[in-house]
Amino acid sequence: MNQVQELKAHFAEQVYPDQLGNYSRRKLAQLAAQHGTPTVIIDQDIITRQYQNLIKALPQVKMRYAIKALPHPEVVKHLAQLGCGFDLATAGEIELLRSLSLDAADTIHTHPIKKDSEIRHAIEFGCQYFVVDNSHELDKFIAYKDQVELLIRVNFRNQDAVVDLSRKFGCELTKLPALVAQAKSLGINIVGLSFHVGSQVPAPYAHVEAIEQCLDVFANMPEVNWKILDIGGGFPIEYTGPGPVIEDFCAPINAALQAVGSEVEVLAEPGRYIAGPSAIQLLSVVGMAQRGARTWYYLDDGVYGVLSGQMFDHAKYPIAPLKSHDMTQGLMPSVLAGPTCDSIDVIDDDIVLPPLEIGDIFVVTQVGAYSLASATEFNLYPKANALWLSGQKELMAGN
Ligand SMILES: Cc1ncc(COP(=O)(O)O)c(C=O)c1O
Repeated sequence: MNQVQELKAHFAEQVYPDQLGNYSRRKLAQLAAQHGTPTVIIDQDIITRQYQNLIKALPQVKMRYAIKALPHPEVVKHLAQLGCGFDLATAGEIELLRSLSLDAADTIHTHPIKKDSEIRHAIEFGCQYFVVDNSHELDKFIAYKDQVELLIRVNFRNQDAVVDLSRKFGCELTKLPALVAQAKSLGINIVGLSFHVGSQVPAPYAHVEAIEQCLDVFANMPEVNWKILDIGGGFPIEYTGPGPVIEDFCAPINAALQAVGSEVEVLAEPGRYIAGPSAIQLLSVVGMAQRGARTWYYLDDGVYGVLSGQMFDHAKYPIAPLKSHDMTQGLMPSVLAGPTCDSIDVIDDDIVLPPLEIGDIFVVTQVGAYSLASATEFNLYPKANALWLSGQKELMAGN
């Protein structure tokens, strides 16, 4: 078999990725014509749906949206209107809240490592709750001990998470008593524990285990006035494969939380679950070339832009041409590449596509979390426009 025959045999097995779901092709085409590409469309109704699904699935838990996932002002404003609080990690995130006239009520500063100037800035904003995970960080709060209450972030490694955040942060359970004793000797108030069992976790057992271990700590250290248990994020969404139903995912977490005493407030810091499904991106084919057996299509955004989540967040987004095609014939082994001069800027080098032309539109779905937020301007390509739509129905077929 020559290379072309091999590729054709390989791709003959594959399914044409027509993943537009219920989106109206006509309306997406109108938006692309009206706003140009690359454009990200963020849908208010999906933010509402995801937030409400999560509070329904975890009725005992108060949500603190992890701004880092999608720090778009309209997203933050809308979540505040829905009653959601915020997980802050940087001075920039605080300034975003300030610019929207939002105050520090229902915020928690969750970054385990920060500069003294960042601590001061957050306290000036009115933030009272901070997270530490080691003795050096605890020392930074000596000067502010009358203004803050601290949570200790505990380390629970999770090889099954797509992003294992405990690789970088978290106090080992064995070191916790010494850290609590240090805080006590410094007169610093420890009031809770937090953890993050990793982002996009496939099953809830890591949350359950972490909750159980934190409750053991509460029971074994009754000298501390435990007031807060923060169960972090990690709630998964669907990308190219099916994801769990959120009620099913949260049921065992809820069961584990039944053992939490009424004096303890339970918080969570969801980012991806709320933001991920809320956005789609429209891209255009700006160039094409036949290279060997594959047709290369060059799009006007790629892994240095909104699809940076493919590199940083290990995400694989559903992507499909907007035009509908006969799916049974003419499919070609193809490559989708971004616009920059770097050869790493390839979105998919293993995709079958119908014949397309320059100017055709592609749609990427599930692109709300850790995507626009990590986009660069490499090559001085500007970041994609972000368009805020209030009406999921506007984009759906049949409207
Ligand atoms: C401290 C902290 N909280 C919350 C989140 C949000 O996690 P997720 O998007 O998995 O919900 C992250 C993600 O990096 C994080 O680092």
